Amino acid sequence: MFGEKNSENEKLNSISTALIEDSENGFDLLDDEIELAGGEWEEPEDAQDSIGRVMYDTPAAKDNTVTVLLPSDKISEVPSQSLVRIKCKSPEDGGDGRCYLGAVVQGPFAEPDGLRADAPIVITTTVRGTQFTPRYHGRVQVEILGEEIDGSLVPPRFRPLPNSYVKPLSSAETEEKLKLAGEVRLGLAVGYENMPVNIPSSRKDVFPRHLAVLGTTGGGKSTTVSGLIGKLTESGVATVLFDTEGEYTRMMEQTDDVTMLKELARRGLTPKGVENVTLYHLVGRETSNPAAPRRKQFSLSFSNLSPYAVKEILGLTDAQEERFLKGYELTRNAVMQLRIFPSNDEEKAQLLELDEMEEGFPRMTLQHLYDIIRICADTVAKEPTQTFLKSKEFFANREAVEKIVHTATLPPNFFSWRKVQGSLARLLRLKIFDNDTAPAPDYDRMTKPGNVTIIDLSDTDSPQVNNLVISEILRGLLLKQNDNYDARLEGEPIKNRVAVVIEEAHEFLSAERVRQMPVLFQQVARIARRGRKRWLGLIFVTQLPQHLPNEVLGLVNNFILHKISDSGVIDRLKRTVGMIDDGLWNRLPNLAPGQAIVSASSLARPLLVSIDPTPCKLRMVD
Ligand SMILES: Nc1ncnc2c1ncn2[C@@H]1O[C@H](COP(=O)(O)OP(=O)(O)O)[C@@H](O)[C@H]1O
Ligand SMILES: [Mg+2]
Repeated sequence: MFGEKNSENEKLNSISTALIEDSENGFDLLDDEIELAGGEWEEPEDAQDSIGRVMYDTPAAKDNTVTVLLPSDKISEVPSQSLVRIKCKSPEDGGDGRCYLGAVVQGPFAEPDGLRADAPIVITTTVRGTQFTPRYHGRVQVEILGEEIDGSLVPPRFRPLPNSYVKPLSSAETEEKLKLAGEVRLGLAVGYENMPVNIPSSRKDVFPRHLAVLGTTGGGKSTTVSGLIGKLTESGVATVLFDTEGEYTRMMEQTDDVTMLKELARRGLTPKGVENVTLYHLVGRETSNPAAPRRKQFSLSFSNLSPYAVKEILGLTDAQEERFLKGYELTRNAVMQLRIFPSNDEEKAQLLELDEMEEGFPRMTLQHLYDIIRICADTVAKEPTQTFLKSKEFFANREAVEKIVHTATLPPNFFSWRKVQGSLARLLRLKIFDNDTAPAPDYDRMTKPGNVTIIDLSDTDSPQVNNLVISEILRGLLLKQNDNYDARLEGEPIKNRVAVVIEEAHEFLSAERVRQMPVLFQQVARIARRGRKRWLGLIFVTQLPQHLPNEVLGLVNNFILHKISDSGVIDRLKRTVGMIDDGLWNRLPNLAPGQAIVSASSLARPLLVSIDPTPCKLRMVD
């Protein structure tokens, strides 16, 4: 019996041994097979650290953007605006081996697996409050920034193939690829933990290529501008700001606004006033900060203004214009004849260079012009011309002056002459021209590295006066920058970098005004063009970008766009501001105060930025 059993066991043993041997043979065979097929299957390295895959294209697919799908636990790795690298499979795996860089422009969205998000079962259960939570995955739309070839980004010739691996860039690499470095910190990129967005203060293609800060009231423009000025100053740029409302006149103090203080603390920033601020206000006008430590009154020189710009600013009719220009010509003759200018050979030579489209006649005062126009009006009206002449040179040489007028052919119609006289009288009464009690603006100081000049125009109550001031100071700055440029050492960059902020720019440069005042606009355009080389950057700030003509927007290469709700305005900006994708444009109407789309020549692509709160004090104006 036992023997039987034993033989049974032996049999079994031998069978199992045979089986094991067999199976070992089998595994060997399999190994051989694997060997033959090129080794054991391993997930490619690219797949291991990828977080998603490129989807197949649908007929709705658009050039330059691909859909990327990812598991739900990876959604948090691709926030809006983040950068990803897309690697196609290697040619052995059926890909083309290309590598692309892209940015998330839509999403991340969450979609249920295997069901449409609007499937009846999803809707019904949600509405009935039942717990039906299908598993879901993420979807993002990625715009292709370029193909990476040997580390550089080139325009793509193809698009990523389906199933290509997608991997987010690290913060450090994102910062580098987006070119976020610079001395002028604007704020933090939205969508990232802590990614500061900076722009360089010294590059020629940023500030000297001009900047527009646009957005509705309350969007955050003034906060942005004041912060910007602080940063520019710290990096040695001189700034000049035309402050129509007196909002910036306390910038030298630190902010005491509770929300700002809280926001500053959250970002680890400290409140502080802007240094080296000088506050200018027109002679005879109030300032909204009489206690400012460095406060100066200034006056304008009539001779700096082109007669053509003056006539535009005065808004003269054609008939009045003709008489104004005639009067100007006679005044010029008188100034020359009395040797007020030119008084020597050097000045005579200067006269040859004079361009009256750009500047007035040297040493001619508004009072000179007024006196002559008055004699003209009296003469045409056949009234006695024994009126008192207020300019001292004309008073002393009455006969000679009268002779100049009397020997000229004057256009008739005393009414028009009197109108011109009236316009000039109003200008005279402002006492802002050629006023001995207040000097001209100190352009030397204004263009010194790091200095800040605020031109407080809050008490002028007149866009005309503001425009006179802005155009004269812009011209003064350009002339000074010409000198600074010539004075620099051969081959060296200019030391005096200047940024000029024009608040309420639509008042100065609206389409309407550009039409009424083509000469003035031509001057600004010239300043903008010449400013590029001479480092005079213009910063236009306005809540009414619709009033800025294309000619002005066309001068600007950098934009900070706060909330804009008007779709007509957005459409127009779309045509002017390149590079911003639809995903960003769509966000423009809903931006929170302090958020802005920044499109700067230095940045690789426009970015949504949460602008830093300002460390300095802004005056509340209503
Ligand atoms: N960068 C910012 N951070 C925090 N709050 C801001 C920021 N910008 C604006 N705000 C808020 O919005 C308000 C209006 O901003 P402001 O700069 O005066 O706008 P605008 O000049 O466009 O009218 C501020 O008083 C502040 O409360
Ligand atoms: Mg403002």
